[in-house]
Amino acid sequence: MKRTKIVDVLTNTAIGTEVVVKGWVRAFRSNRFIQLNDGSTIHSLQAVVDFEKFDEALLKKITTAAAVGLTGQLIASQGAGQAVELQVNAIEIIGEANPDDVQKTVMQPKKHSLEFLREQAHLRFRTNVFGAVFRIRHGVAYSIHKFFNDKGFYYLHTPIITASDAEGAGEMFHVTNLDLNKLPKNEDGSINFNEDFFERPVNLTVSGQLEAELGALALGQVYTFGPTFRAENSNTSRHLAEFWMIEPEVAFNDLNDNMDLAEEMLKYICRYVVDNFADDLAFLNERELKEEQSKPANERNEMSLIDRLNFVINNDFKRITYTEAVDILMNSNHYKKKKFKYDVNWGTDLQSEHERYLVEKEFKRPVIITNYPASFKAFYMRRDDNCEVGKETVAAMDILFPGIGEMVGGSQREERLDVLKEKCAAFGIHEEDLWWYLDTRKFGSVPHAGFGLGFERMVMFVTGMSNIRDVIPFPRTPGNAEF
Ligand code: 4AD
Ligand code: MG
Repeated sequence: MKRTKIVDVLTNTAIGTEVVVKGWVRAFRSNRFIQLNDGSTIHSLQAVVDFEKFDEALLKKITTAAAVGLTGQLIASQGAGQAVELQVNAIEIIGEANPDDVQKTVMQPKKHSLEFLREQAHLRFRTNVFGAVFRIRHGVAYSIHKFFNDKGFYYLHTPIITASDAEGAGEMFHVTNLDLNKLPKNEDGSINFNEDFFERPVNLTVSGQLEAELGALALGQVYTFGPTFRAENSNTSRHLAEFWMIEPEVAFNDLNDNMDLAEEMLKYICRYVVDNFADDLAFLNERELKEEQSKPANERNEMSLIDRLNFVINNDFKRITYTEAVDILMNSNHYKKKKFKYDVNWGTDLQSEHERYLVEKEFKRPVIITNYPASFKAFYMRRDDNCEVGKETVAAMDILFPGIGEMVGGSQREERLDVLKEKCAAFGIHEEDLWWYLDTRKFGSVPHAGFGLGFERMVMFVTGMSNIRDVIPFPRTPGNAEF
């Protein structure tokens, strides 16, 4: 007989049906009740064993974490807590688990700290919380593909190995197959990259945007969805060295169209998760409420996880310019009482404490900040028309979320070749290195815009997890690449 997934047993199998289920034992109580989970749902199936019918040696092998196959009849549950249960007729031990080993791991059925779970990233999938997080992570990815597909976007695969540093921050991991102990040198002592695999220095991509622009300027609307790598040494709860980014790019879109698209996408993802992951979400919601009780009142979330998702779905994001943001901050009591650690003044980038103030205190909703000073934004952003002298701004937009900070960064792109060349010069970018990018501005250049969504930050928002390491299966952070 073929196995039935537990989610199907629990949701659409008639009482009286004979089924085979396979999964891992979460608990075996009183030599009678097995809680079996197969990853298809957060709920475990309760299986009832009549121990007199089975060999004692066999029953001894039904231990926490062991893999078993159970054949039996689905019956209405005799006990509270579940609607149905399995009356077991046959037991197959598929993979044993030594209780002494299990004792030391996260599979031991008790509450573990997220830090401890992180040390066992290879096993944490077996816990309820990570089961829920990774099922939802899948749903977020799927919803993004669905959103763009239904709008007629094309999924474009941009390279992972590249010679460009799109963001210009110099935070790149080098890629080479040279023998690091015997590096070929030029006469001046520098490394001779002509002898390297690509005959030039290359790195892991920090963004697929520049390549996506090439696609958009022919296919109209494209998006990338791939891994990106940043060697920034920021050991925070919101940064990874390897993370996934979604980057749509649309020909003929301006900054307003760009904001509309991003807001629609973020709402769509939240709605998709609410509609399709009710059980996992209810579990995470409950978990968060319990955690909150141990926090001081002023550090608690004002809304529950599910309320936060519904809030995003049902409310417009606040849109303000950088200049307005700076005014608001400087006029705030918080600023006047010198409660910000970093100063605010027009021309310097906002710190996360400033962003948090705007999102969590001032507007209490997602905020889109636009038209930042050109000086601290990337070279490809479109210079705003009619800027005051000395106050040059660009058509940038950052979307800030409560509890997360920057969720999305994007802009309208500089489509004017002469301005783009000026920007390259100002940023120290050699035109010959980016000839293929500049070329698009020579052959039917058009206004266009796009943005990047940090995938893990979105998964954090929809699961309520507060550390980015807990929403990616195998986190890569400074000093961490174990699994
Ligand atoms: O703002 P960023 O650097 O923008 C770009 O890379 C543009 N090329 C995007 C575009 O316009 N096509 O990064 C985009 C988003 C950020 O808003 C943030 O959510 C996420 O990527 N991000 C990170 N997420 C996790 N760990 C890191 N180290 C991240 N750095 C950026
Ligand atoms: Mg950014």
